[in-house]
Amino acid sequence: MTQTNEISATTGDWSRSAEHLRRSHEVTTNPRPDQDGQFPCVLSRGAGARVYDLDDNAYFDLTCSFGTVLIGHAEPAVTDAIRASLDDGNLFYTGPSPRRLALAERLLDWFPWADQALFYRTGSCAVSAVARLTQHVTGRTTVLTSGYHGWHDWHLEAVPEAKLFPSYATEFHEDLDVYRAYLERHADEIAAVVVTPEPTRKPVGHYRVLRELAAEHGCLFVVDEVKTGMRAGKGGLSALAGLEPDAVTVSKGLANGHSISAVVGSRRITDGLDEAHVWSTYQNEQVGFAAALATVDFLESQDVAAVVGRTGRVVEQAFRSAFAERGLPVEVRGWGPMFDLDFSAAEEGLADRLQLAFLRHGVFCDIGDDFNVMYRTADHLDELTGRVTAAIRSV
Ligand SMILES: Cc1ncc(COP(=O)(O)O)c(C=O)c1O
Repeated sequence: MTQTNEISATTGDWSRSAEHLRRSHEVTTNPRPDQDGQFPCVLSRGAGARVYDLDDNAYFDLTCSFGTVLIGHAEPAVTDAIRASLDDGNLFYTGPSPRRLALAERLLDWFPWADQALFYRTGSCAVSAVARLTQHVTGRTTVLTSGYHGWHDWHLEAVPEAKLFPSYATEFHEDLDVYRAYLERHADEIAAVVVTPEPTRKPVGHYRVLRELAAEHGCLFVVDEVKTGMRAGKGGLSALAGLEPDAVTVSKGLANGHSISAVVGSRRITDGLDEAHVWSTYQNEQVGFAAALATVDFLESQDVAAVVGRTGRVVEQAFRSAFAERGLPVEVRGWGPMFDLDFSAAEEGLADRLQLAFLRHGVFCDIGDDFNVMYRTADHLDELTGRVTAAIRSV
């Protein structure tokens, strides 16, 4: 792999970004106010594996914009498809359209056990829709769940401070004993089990066990693959785990950073569509379908899942080696396409120091969240791993 020197360590001058944030706070919001003080960097553009801030600092992007940018920023194949679709207009009164049909066919090819694909704009909408659909088709209300499913009212177990009133979701926190006991006692109240796989923490086989137990108790089983579905490749993480759910939700990576989500499910679930009122105005925007069709073409033709899997392994190993060399007790929990860091054995303040060090060395990440790689990351592996090592050595 050739060494490129296009990114020098950042200057740490985020003055234009800081000024921008001051005004932003007055007239709009910043969901990450914790970053304002020490490293107020505001990203303004991206190209391939890199992002750039308002002060012209460049970074390798290990957030992939919450995991959504799976190929690379401003990937021409996707951008060109969007431009072409814009010439045809964007939203029409009748839902069915050639692009929507084409994307549904592609998703049914990815998830061959499913019968229908329904489209939304966000992950939260897709998971809320599938939860409501399962309630309608079963006549039951409880959703037994684990993991993050977005910001909607029905499920705030992952963000308890935002929860103001009880909901119909019951969280089992990936605890198999709690799960089993709940199924045994309450199976006839459960509309569905809805789980978000956390492959950096649990082996994929764990989800097959959850599926089997749900089936034994006659419960519908939905895998929230908003994060993992496209990243894991055809069939999503469900296929890697060897399970066939009743539905999956997908979104991130489906359109390489453009807004679209889908419920891909069997008729057992989508039959609830007429009663459940899970429609919304912008769910048939053409631009999302165009971006997704171009992205899915690329994911398949370039075997993106295999590339990001291999790339992620190299990057996570660079983290692991550098932590070991420095004697820092930070665990790297990897799955390949994404990984995260466990600081529970580390001294207080290390995570903050590392966050700043990564930014100063031109590596954009959110230290407390998942690290993701994209297809274009593979072109810069030597330089990226060198920067990761230098950043960890510097703390
Ligand atoms: C597994 C999962 N489900 C649902 C969501 C919510 O998606 P969105 O933020 O697009 O509403 C997310 C977002 O991080 C997610 O990771």
